[in-house]
Amino acid sequence: MENFVFHNPTRLIFGRGQLSRLRDELEPYGKRVLLVYGGGSIKRTGLYDEVMAILREAGRTVFELPGVEPNPRLTTVHRGVEICRREQIDFILAVGGGSVLDCAKAIAVGARYDGDMWDIVTRKAEATGALPFGAVLTLAATGSEMNPTSVITNWETQQKLGWSARPYTFPAFSILDPVYTFTVPRDHTVYGIVDMMSHALEQYFHAADNAPLIDRWIEDLLRTVMEAAPKAVANPEDYEARETLLFCGTMALNGVLSMGTDGGDWATHAIEHAISAVYDIPHGGGLAIVQPNWMKYCLETDPARFARLAVRVFDVAPAGRTDREVGLEGIERLRQFWSSLGAPARLADYGIGDDQIDRMAVLAMKGGTTVGRFRPLTPEDVAAILRMSL
Ligand code: NZQ
Ligand code: ZN
Repeated sequence: MENFVFHNPTRLIFGRGQLSRLRDELEPYGKRVLLVYGGGSIKRTGLYDEVMAILREAGRTVFELPGVEPNPRLTTVHRGVEICRREQIDFILAVGGGSVLDCAKAIAVGARYDGDMWDIVTRKAEATGALPFGAVLTLAATGSEMNPTSVITNWETQQKLGWSARPYTFPAFSILDPVYTFTVPRDHTVYGIVDMMSHALEQYFHAADNAPLIDRWIEDLLRTVMEAAPKAVANPEDYEARETLLFCGTMALNGVLSMGTDGGDWATHAIEHAISAVYDIPHGGGLAIVQPNWMKYCLETDPARFARLAVRVFDVAPAGRTDREVGLEGIERLRQFWSSLGAPARLADYGIGDDQIDRMAVLAMKGGTTVGRFRPLTPEDVAAILRMSL
């Protein structure tokens, strides 16, 4: 294992009815609250009314930033920062999925930075503080509710970039009630499942010599998601399945699965972010297309690791075959599993052809010369993976 320090300051408040704790959670913060939310799902489900009632009872003055888009945009962050400055906001409350949380993180930091928030996303400047913020999560996927990461898209430059500013971008608290995920549509339920599995897989392909507990936790998380996923897709109001997915989504990307490792590979995510930056497709949809092809492309880097995954997670029988053969069957089973849920398998499923492949390959480098730690990929490698994905 590598040396590590683990510290996650987010208070995770999980379970049925836990929204009732919101009032107490708001207690330490000031009166002027910015409520950040998405395209209207929280109004349709009634969560907006519940949250507003609690904020009013708590004597808060509420300002609103509605309309955060999936793949949240820098322009929306700018609007939020402007409100925070003009209205002297004390606290930001994000109510929605990962996109709403990521946008709230950027607004929180932007409100305490004199220049353009994009400087911090692109690491030209360092964050020196942030407004405090908390979340009520409505979709199991990103882990943003308990991690410091935010992903923001700048449409002018076609960049979709992940960034973080520890400790400022950890939510102070996140309230997760599985009931609020009942209404997530089938496609976004599946994208969330793919996303949390992809987070686990990214971290599985690490370079640490001796991380048996982390390896087993990742394998078990994947198996657990695969048990619950078909149930939640078949019956959106299956409380136990939704509960399991919500918990797995948080645990897949709150730092626990990287303790003692280098953090994993993450090239699949960089490639997906490049695709979304050009075509604005859902994150989980892009991952479902790219991840198995990344795995095939990188199989030779460590066939034994792929074989272990195949045996332990996908129940592939090793029976006298090479690690390569066993690993490849595991990758096929992953693809079959995602397809069985209705996830896309090819870029063509989004009407994407080969005309922007070189551009996306460069964007995936995020300014560097290679991407990925398990196997550093050049733009040529990424272009090859994208061609496998057509
Ligand atoms: O906008 P509204 O109307 O709220 O609708 C949303 C949106 O259309 C809807 N939705 C959310 N909860 C719902 C619901 N509809 C009905 N009932 C509910 N309870 O679902 C749609 C997708 O929401 P979004 O927040 O975009 O999904 P997700 O949570 O998957 O977030 C995706 C974003 O997170 C980034 C992705 O790149 C993408 O931009 N990521 C963030 C990470 C992080 N912060 O750690 C890591 C990830 O790898 C990822 O890159
Ligand atoms: Zn992801």
